[in-house]
Order: sequence, then structure tokens, then C-alpha cells
Amino acid sequence: MSDAPQIFRDIASMRHAVAQWRAAGEKIALVPTMGALHAGHISLVEAARKKARRTIVSIFVNPTQFAAGEDFSAYPRTFDADLAKLAEARADGCFAPQAREIYPEGFSTKVTPGGPALAGLEDRFRPDHFPGVALVVAKLLNQAQADFAFFGEKDFQQLAVIRRIVADLDIPTRIFGVETLREADGLALSSRNIYLEAEERAQAPLLARILNETAAAIRSGAAPEEAAAQASAKLGSAGFAVDYLEARQAETLAPIASREEGPIRLLVAARLGKTRLIDNILV
Ligand code: PAJ
Repeated sequence: MSDAPQIFRDIASMRHAVAQWRAAGEKIALVPTMGALHAGHISLVEAARKKARRTIVSIFVNPTQFAAGEDFSAYPRTFDADLAKLAEARADGCFAPQAREIYPEGFSTKVTPGGPALAGLEDRFRPDHFPGVALVVAKLLNQAQADFAFFGEKDFQQLAVIRRIVADLDIPTRIFGVETLREADGLALSSRNIYLEAEERAQAPLLARILNETAAAIRSGAAPEEAAAQASAKLGSAGFAVDYLEARQAETLAPIASREEGPIRLLVAARLGKTRLIDNILV
């Protein structure tokens, strides 16, 4: 198909195309993903295409951001279907590197993000996760040398961590956050939703519904911490195993006691059976 994205199997071929595009005066956007693409990922591609003449989507299931016992091996790998979706979305390039080029023999550098990476949310349950994300995103941004990079608000703490490392490491790529795309019933799209059993899938939208109700309660004057605690208890009695549900300062992710401390974000992680769901919402 003439619309098929160019596939870059190594860093050099991607950089070559990027250099040519740049020489022609074109702006380049990168959309980093781990594949198993769904409409949420495609909404990032659409946002990128509005901003840049050229869009590259990277597909790399990054081993360093999964802890032992997490779903690295089971993570869905659907490359052909992903490519078809990227063709339909009119992405210009797909960067699909080999793990041995990203982490060759002798690789030994670590990136240890602070600030929002230590907010006590995801990091409390997945302590190795953000160091792995920060490492691979720093590498991907260096590899692509794009003007812009697009990330979803779905992974809100991740977005904050990426903004932080990009600022701290002087990476010359401008970061954009894109609103979470949801199913009609409110469930945030995620590659991991396929793990949900039918009964769990029916239960899952409660997560977003309770976030919405809690945000509304805080907007009409409820104390953020109490409202979050009540919401957490509600989810617990509905069968979710709640890792956290918290009201945080929207930029720093610091704990927040009152509405006067600035914009608030509600963030949640909860397990339904073997599936761990995360979501967040602006108050
Ligand atoms: P992945 O989970 O594949 O997500 C890729 C991008 O899609 C992330 O920026 C994520 O926030 C965004 N995304 C996922 N679901 C979304 C939804 N429902 N609406 C809008 N955006 C959504 O996040 C990662 O991969 C990795 O950690 C990565 C950044 C690629 C580093 O390995």
C-alpha cells in the first residue's frame, strides 16, 4: 500500500530519514509505544500529525521497565496489525528496533529519575518501572532526534517523569501530552484491557465512574484526601484491589490537602483479577 509507513529496523536508517526530512525543512514528531496499538495510540499519531509534517511511531517492548514477574513475556506483540493501523493513520515511519541494538552486550548505564518519579504512586508498587521508562525514552528521543514527542495522559505519572528528564537532561525535543481516549462506557483504552475476563470487563468502567464522581465532589467542596479515601473504599467493596487512589497536585504530583494548592489530579491504580488498571482525571 502506498500509505504504508517506512519501517526502520535500526537507528541509522531512522536517523537517515530524519536527516533528509529535516534538510527539506520538515518538522518531525515521535510517538513512542510498545505496540499492541489501539485507538488511544492512534489518537497520539493524529495529534502528532497535526503538529508535524512527519510522524514516526516507535514500537519496542522495553524489557528494562518490567520487573521480574510482570508481563514482559506475555505482553501482546501484534506487529502486522500495528503496521496496518499505522498505514491507516498515515504515519510516515515505524521504528521497530531489535533489543540487541537498544541494549547491546556491555550496556551498563542507568537513568534514575527523581521528582515525580518518586511521588509514591506507581513507583511505590513498581520501583524499577520509571528508571526503565526514563532510560528507554531518553534513548528513543536521542535516537530519533525529533522536534516533538507525544505521550498520553493515560500514564500521567509517566508523562510527568518524561517532562522532568527532558528538562533535566537538556533533550531538545518538545513534549506534548494527549488526553486519555476512553471506551463509550468510560474505560480508558489500554493494551492490557485484553487481559480482562468478561465479568471483569463489565466491572472495569466503575474505575472511571468513581474518579468522575470524586472529582465532582471535590469541585463542590469535599476535602480532596477524604474524598479520595472514600472512593478507594467504594472500589474496594466493588471487588477492586486498590493499590492507590489519591488526589495530588497536578504538576508536581505532590500530596495535596486543600483545593487552594492549585490544580488537582486524581490518580488510581487498582487490580481486577490478574489485570492491573490505571487511570487519572483532572479535578
Ligand atoms: P504504551 O503503553 O504502548 O503507550 C504508548 C503511549 O500511548 C503512552 O504515551 C501512553 O500514555 C499512550 N496511551 C495509552 N493508552 C492511551 C489512551 N487510552 N489514550 C491516550 N493515550 C494513551 O507507555 C508506554 O507504552 C511506554 O512506557 C513507553 C513510553 C513507550 C516507553 O517504553
